[in-house]
Amino acid sequence: MFLGLDLGTSGVKALLIDDAQSPIAEGHAPLTVERPHSNWSEQDPNSWITACNAAIAAVRAEAPQAFAALKGIAVSGQMHGATLLDEADNPLRPAILWNDGRSAAQCEALEARADFRGIGGNIVMAGFTAPKLEWVRQNEPEVFAKTHKVLLPKDYVGLWLTGRHMSEMSDAAGTLWLDVGKRDWSDALLAATGLDRSHMPQLVEGSESAGNLRPELAKAWGVGSVVVAGGAGDNAATACGLGITKPGDAFVSLGTSGVLFTTTDHYATNTESAVHSFCHALPDTWHQMGVILSATDSLNWLADLAGRSAKDLTTAIDNLPSAASPVTFLPYLSGERTPHNAPDASASFLGLKRQHGLTEMTQAVMEGVAFALNDCRRAIDQSGAPLTSAWVAGGGSQSKAWLNMIAAATGLTLKVPASGSQGAALGAARLAMAASGMTDVFGTPDLQESIAPDPALAAAYAERQKLFRNVYPALP
Ligand code: XUL
Repeated sequence: MFLGLDLGTSGVKALLIDDAQSPIAEGHAPLTVERPHSNWSEQDPNSWITACNAAIAAVRAEAPQAFAALKGIAVSGQMHGATLLDEADNPLRPAILWNDGRSAAQCEALEARADFRGIGGNIVMAGFTAPKLEWVRQNEPEVFAKTHKVLLPKDYVGLWLTGRHMSEMSDAAGTLWLDVGKRDWSDALLAATGLDRSHMPQLVEGSESAGNLRPELAKAWGVGSVVVAGGAGDNAATACGLGITKPGDAFVSLGTSGVLFTTTDHYATNTESAVHSFCHALPDTWHQMGVILSATDSLNWLADLAGRSAKDLTTAIDNLPSAASPVTFLPYLSGERTPHNAPDASASFLGLKRQHGLTEMTQAVMEGVAFALNDCRRAIDQSGAPLTSAWVAGGGSQSKAWLNMIAAATGLTLKVPASGSQGAALGAARLAMAASGMTDVFGTPDLQESIAPDPALAAAYAERQKLFRNVYPALP
C-alpha cells in the first residue's frame, strides 16, 4: 500500500493505492487562503498539517486494514511557497504562496545581482521563492534574521512526516536557488538573497527515499516501517501520475493555476516568453511549462460574485459551443506569468452589453483561460518541437465544454485519462513506490476520450484571440 498526499492551494487530497496502483481509499480536507493586502496570498503552515491529518484520518477510516499495510508515502505540493522556520522549526510568519505578487520590485534587483536566468533557468518572477525572501529581508528584517531554514510547502509536510529537512529537484528548481542544469543548490544564487546552503534542505531525487516515517506517527497510525520519498512539485507530480516522462509528452492542467507542461531530456531555457524551465521529479529529466495564475480561480471568482457554484455556472454552457461568447475576458486576476511576466497585470471583461448576463460572462471566463493557455503553447513551441496533443488534469478538466474550448483555442488534441483526475496524488503515490524499490511504475493511463479541435470553433477563436492579444498592452 502506498499513500500519495497532494497539498494543493484549496485543499489536501490523500490517495491510498495498492501495489497494482488500484485506488483503495481517498480523503480530502479544505484549506483557505488569506489575502490581507492587495497582491498578497498566504497560508498558515500548520493548517497544512491539520489538513493532512484530516485527509489521512479519512483514508484510515475508509480502509483501516489496507492502511495498516502502508509501505511508502510521498507528498506533492503547491510550488514556490516560502515557509520560514526558526531554529526550533517553528514557522516565523505565514507562508507566502506561489500566487502572491508582492515581490515585483525585488525581482528586478535580484536579476541584477546574479545570473538567475542562466543558472536558475528562469526569469526572476514574483511567484518564485527567492524574491519572496528578498521582500522579507527588506520589509521584515527581524524575521529574516531569525530564519534558520526555508522550506517549500510540501517539504514542511515532509519535515512533519520524517523529522528531516529534505527537498527534491522539481520543487527546488522553483525556488530560483537551484542550479537547474547541475541539480544542486547554487551558492551564487543563494548569496544574492543573503542566504547560503545551511538555510536549505538536503536534496534527493523525487523518486528516492528522503527518510522514514517518524516512529511517533507510525505508532499513532498503526503502521510499520514506512519510506517517505522525495515527492514532487504538484506539476511534476501530475506528470508522474500521467506517465509524462519522455520528451514531447505533455499535459494541460486546470487547477487554481493553469499549466501546459512538457518533458525534456536536457536542460533548456526560454526566458524571453516567461517559460518555466525546471527539473522533473525523475533523475536526468527536466521539463518546461507555461503557467497562468488564474484558471479555475477565474471561474471560482465569478461564481463567488454571483453567489453560485462554478459547476452551476458551467451547466448553462453547451458542451460544444457553436460560437465564441460575445464577451471577452482576460484572466489576469492575480497578474500573469507566461507569457507576460506581469505580477501587476489586471483582468478585464470586454464587449459587455445591457443584454448580456452570467451565461455570456461564464463562457467568456472559460474562453479567456483557454486563450491564455494558447499563449503558453505558443511560448513552449518556440523552444522545441511543436506540441500536437496533451493529456488533461485538474478539477477544471471535468468540464467537457472547457476541454472543447481549450482544444479549439490551442489546436491541441486533448486526451482524457480513464482514471479521472487522480493526477498529482497518484503521481506522489507512484514516487513512493519507486522510492520503495518498485520499477516500471510510471505508465500512461487508459484513454477515456480524445478531444480534437472543432474546426468552426477554432476559426472563431483564432479571430477572437487577435483581440485578446492586442488589447493586453492597453490594460492598466
Ligand atoms: C507553478 C505554479 C503553480 C503551483 C500551483 O509554477 O506556481 O502551478 O504549483 O500549485
